[in-house]
Amino acid sequence: MKGIILAGGTGSRLYPMTKVVSKQLLPLYDKPMIYYPLSVLMLGGIREVLIITNPSDEDIFRELFGDGSQLGMNIEYKAQDKPNGLAEAFIIGADFIGDDSVCLVLGDNIFYGQNLSKAMWNAQKKLDGAYIFGYPVNNASEFGVVEFDSNMNVISIEEKPSEPKSNYAVPGLYFYDNTVIKKALEVKPSPRGELEIGSINLAYLNDGKLKVELLGRGMAWLDTGTPKGMLKAAEFIEAVQSRQGYYISCIEEIACRRGFIDKTQLIKLGEKLKMTDYGKYILSVCEEIE
Ligand code: DAU
Repeated sequence: MKGIILAGGTGSRLYPMTKVVSKQLLPLYDKPMIYYPLSVLMLGGIREVLIITNPSDEDIFRELFGDGSQLGMNIEYKAQDKPNGLAEAFIIGADFIGDDSVCLVLGDNIFYGQNLSKAMWNAQKKLDGAYIFGYPVNNASEFGVVEFDSNMNVISIEEKPSEPKSNYAVPGLYFYDNTVIKKALEVKPSPRGELEIGSINLAYLNDGKLKVELLGRGMAWLDTGTPKGMLKAAEFIEAVQSRQGYYISCIEEIACRRGFIDKTQLIKLGEKLKMTDYGKYILSVCEEIE
């Protein structure tokens, strides 16, 4: 399975913070925002990742992760000329996906919880068409919303409905088989002029191939859409890290625990950052790992 992180967009809701800096490079507590979605793919064992950025940001992202080999990964980059919508990821990424299936994660979506790795593996194992998630929220009208019948079969998916038919939002984490490329090419722009991810999900729903797994209370899906949301997410990350001593989305640790790199390489990565708490944490993980 290939992974795509969509990290373009205008970030206009966060102006002036994002006027000259990509939203996905802004810090969330102690690391750039994109570390969080990248870590989700890594937890799912996905080592081949395409990062889609605005043309002006491509070099900066490349500087951040290089070719990914230091993490035992293969990271590629492509630019999206304009924010034409989420479904364009599969057109821009068609060559990268090749004959494979693909997991798309939005560059501003933060997930954390004990069941995350399990959910990532389950989705890959059970994938037969499309596999997405539903997450209960109070403000469903700000998201894609999924509606179920009394047997919990999906009956509709709507993008930002003014009157949501359920309180289940669709988070920015989607698994698709290879037909997603063809489906994306067939999507027509919505009234707001975007190639909507909802149209892709609808195409799978019409084929009877859309599975929605509900994420429960044990999973945190954090909002980064407003300055306040970002602050709250940062506070959450700080609180968990200080209390438990385990870092959220330390990509070097995950690379080693998932067997992408060995302990020698992890020490090398930790040494480079040892003047920071982040680097010290990496080195402390090295002591734990056999
Ligand atoms: O966060 C989950 C929600 O994400 C879903 O529930 C919605 O169904 C989905 O449409 C999306 O809604 P948003 O309003 O949050 O999408 P936004 O335009 O903010 O973009 C989400 C991320 O994707 C953000 O990191 C920017 C990036 N992006 C967005 C567009 C439209 C791109 O890289 N290219 C684009 O063309």
